[in-house]
Amino acid sequence: MKKYTLYTTMGAGFESVVAKELQTLGYETRTENGRVFFEGTQEDIVKTNLWLRTADRVKILLKEFKALDFDTLYNEVYAFDWAQLLPVDAKFPVQGRAVRSKLHSEPDVQSIVKKAIVDKMTDQYHRRGFLPETGSEYPLDIHIYKDIARISLDTTGESLFKRGYRVEHGGAPMKENFAAGLLRLTPYNGTHPLIDPMTGSGTLAIEAALIAKNIAPGTWRKFAFDNFDWFDPTLHQKLLEEAKTMIKPLEAPIWASDIDQSVLEIAKLNAHNAGVLQDIRFKQVAVKDFTTDLENGIIIANPPYGKRLKDRKGAEELYKQMGDVLGKYTDFSQYYLTADPNFEKFFGAKATKKRKLFNGNLRVDFYQYWANRR
Ligand SMILES: C[S@@+](CC[C@H](N)C(=O)[O-])C[C@H]1O[C@@H](n2cnc3c(N)ncnc32)[C@H](O)[C@@H]1O
Repeated sequence: MKKYTLYTTMGAGFESVVAKELQTLGYETRTENGRVFFEGTQEDIVKTNLWLRTADRVKILLKEFKALDFDTLYNEVYAFDWAQLLPVDAKFPVQGRAVRSKLHSEPDVQSIVKKAIVDKMTDQYHRRGFLPETGSEYPLDIHIYKDIARISLDTTGESLFKRGYRVEHGGAPMKENFAAGLLRLTPYNGTHPLIDPMTGSGTLAIEAALIAKNIAPGTWRKFAFDNFDWFDPTLHQKLLEEAKTMIKPLEAPIWASDIDQSVLEIAKLNAHNAGVLQDIRFKQVAVKDFTTDLENGIIIANPPYGKRLKDRKGAEELYKQMGDVLGKYTDFSQYYLTADPNFEKFFGAKATKKRKLFNGNLRVDFYQYWANRR
């Protein structure tokens, strides 16, 4: 069976989390900045797209070479057997990125690569300069870093954070793979209670339920590989069926509350779409009125962060309430994500550990208060 060199991409700071996920799925990994490499077959491409909770994409590395000038770039790309990968009508958008390299103009890199592929394909298919690009999409990308060029095929398509269970709404919810990544930075595995007291559209609680029940996060969506004409079409269905047999019942409760009833309605709809509505107890409660009789669990939340001074004051008042009300549950390990550098001061306790992350482009800290350490 043909083996490919594969790699996953992910948000900054999540390399070790994705590597661990891949290792748990049974792969040997090699980590670079922003990428984790592994080897695998078509079945592994399906498996990783279906099961990785914290990665962005799974790509096939097609070719790697040193490129100090455009002639080399053109010739190396031309030398690849493109007709073996792309059917004559393939649509093949090329994304270009060049960092700390002699070839630094991304538009030029991109158009040279596109031209080399078009030239080779028209030669291979005897098409005389015309390719219709009316068929299925094969997303390609060229990435040059320190003069080493890598050309890859994206097997995922839309980023893996788009699970497909979430309804669109105006707020700024956390991406699904980011929420799963935060959960993977805690000891959460579904055996202890989990509470999100500021749940918004419910992403953290829903991702927790998917982890706890061992539901594959890619259950609801299609992937780019579904349209590749050389890809075994039976594999996706086979692995989906297998995934269904691996679902477990929930062991420990998941609670999700918020002050705002309207966001809770969205959270419930999302949970329903993900098939976990019955597994999460949603309730409208303000942090100041929060109580629980659950014990020895995890509290995790992404409280509001006020960008403007006026909102900042409100957010900081809330951090104080969190410290007063949630802080007393010392048998719970607590995890809070915010961009406010003064969070600990208002919460009233120094975090056991702090982890620097990026939520999209926003620099944030993940404040960790381990149980019974306060
Ligand atoms: C940044 S959002 C959370 C987003 C969420 N992680 C998601 O993925 O959708 C912060 C949430 O805190 C809620 N909130 C603000 N003040 C609150 C309070 N005093 N008590 C409970 N929830 C509050 C807001 O209604 C909002 O839904």
